[in-house]
Amino acid sequence: GQALNIALLPGDGIGPEVMDVAEAVLDLLIQRYQLPLGHTRFDWPSHAWHQSHGQMMPSDGVAQLREFDAMLLGALGDPGPLEDSSRFVLSDSVSLAPLLALRKQLDLWACERPARWLPGAPQYLADPRAREVDMLVIRENSEGEYSGQGGRLAPGTAQEVATQVEVFTARATERLIRHAFRRARQRSTQREVPRQFKNDKHAQVCLITKRNAQPFWGDLYTDTFHRIAAEFPDVDIHHELVDAACMKFVQCPWRFDVVVASNLHGDILTDLAAVLCGGPGLAPSANLNPDEPSLPALFEPVHGSAPDIAGQNLADPRATLMSLAMLLDNLAHHHPAIGSAAQHLHDLIQADLAREANGEAFSGTRETGQRLCQWLAA
Ligand code: NAD
Ligand code: IPM
Ligand code: MN
Repeated sequence: GQALNIALLPGDGIGPEVMDVAEAVLDLLIQRYQLPLGHTRFDWPSHAWHQSHGQMMPSDGVAQLREFDAMLLGALGDPGPLEDSSRFVLSDSVSLAPLLALRKQLDLWACERPARWLPGAPQYLADPRAREVDMLVIRENSEGEYSGQGGRLAPGTAQEVATQVEVFTARATERLIRHAFRRARQRSTQREVPRQFKNDKHAQVCLITKRNAQPFWGDLYTDTFHRIAAEFPDVDIHHELVDAACMKFVQCPWRFDVVVASNLHGDILTDLAAVLCGGPGLAPSANLNPDEPSLPALFEPVHGSAPDIAGQNLADPRATLMSLAMLLDNLAHHHPAIGSAAQHLHDLIQADLAREANGEAFSGTRETGQRLCQWLAA
């Protein structure tokens, strides 16, 4: 068949450093498995915004990306003197950070952030059950608290009033929650040892809201959740207010399966979930449009551009490699060799982590890349 094309977007800060590793690993996988894959790297750092041309990518950037079969991103965010002040103006009333604009313009409304602890990963919780953490946070990726609407009245004065409008639609809520139930059911069929939830069910979806303080969207989410749950009698349902969910992510994270949350709640919970799995260097993610599988999905580590460690060879590239493995999984239906390469990459990451289980320390961005490449070339 036709070759598939992957867009690589290194971005800012540690983004290019972790992307160098991912690109080298991808090249070796392509060689070794004769994958029908090509890739193109786009150096579109968001700091370009601050420079003369005033935007991160060319005006047809999104149209260019849509032609690809998948995208891998390092990180976008340039906290320079203007601290994340770059915004894409999408319309008269909507402006968003570059990454959010990209997700929105590409219509990637579901964000999947798996959190599974793997042997060798740092374990920050003392309870041995913390090794059983295996959840999937599904985050709304198109609206909610990130609608980008609002403004500042009388900015800089003592009378200033800032508004930040949250918008929740039935359409986006329904598709999000239905997707969460489908994924919960699917995960339960893929597990060798079934998990046990209430009433002998093997899958669970936990809904997150703050409906005690934000009842309008909280009730929309809750009503939609119950209506859709009725279509999935095999899936157990649970609800947590977001503040209590934060406690339980630390107290008993092994109890969660699929967690479905709004854009902002999902953002916050997935940094917490990343730490349950060993830290920012080990948490991957996918931005997808499950209704339109022909639209390219965007894969990226959960972490950001980490300006505090950029340029020091300290960034763990494995969150990006895990995201690359998810990307390959997502394309595997095109060709069985892509699935084999994805599995090989998963295994390599686990083998690399297992070294740390034996007391080895994280050895540096480039060294990690070189070691994995040596294993792959062997
Ligand atoms: P961050 O995730 O960049 O960094 C938080 C902490 O985690 C830092 O101490 C950093 O050193 C550490 N860290 C992150 N990635 C690491 C890695 N691979 N290996 C080792 N340590 C790692 O979050 P921040 O500092 O709040 O944000 C920095 C910039 O990144 C901001 O501009 C923010 O908007 C942006 N950001 C982008 C994304 C994205 O592109 N997906 C995600 C989060 C934040
Ligand atoms: C993430 C990031 C982004 C978000 C930022 C960069 C706007 O934190 O991908 O988790 O909040 O979605
Ligand atoms: Mn985040």
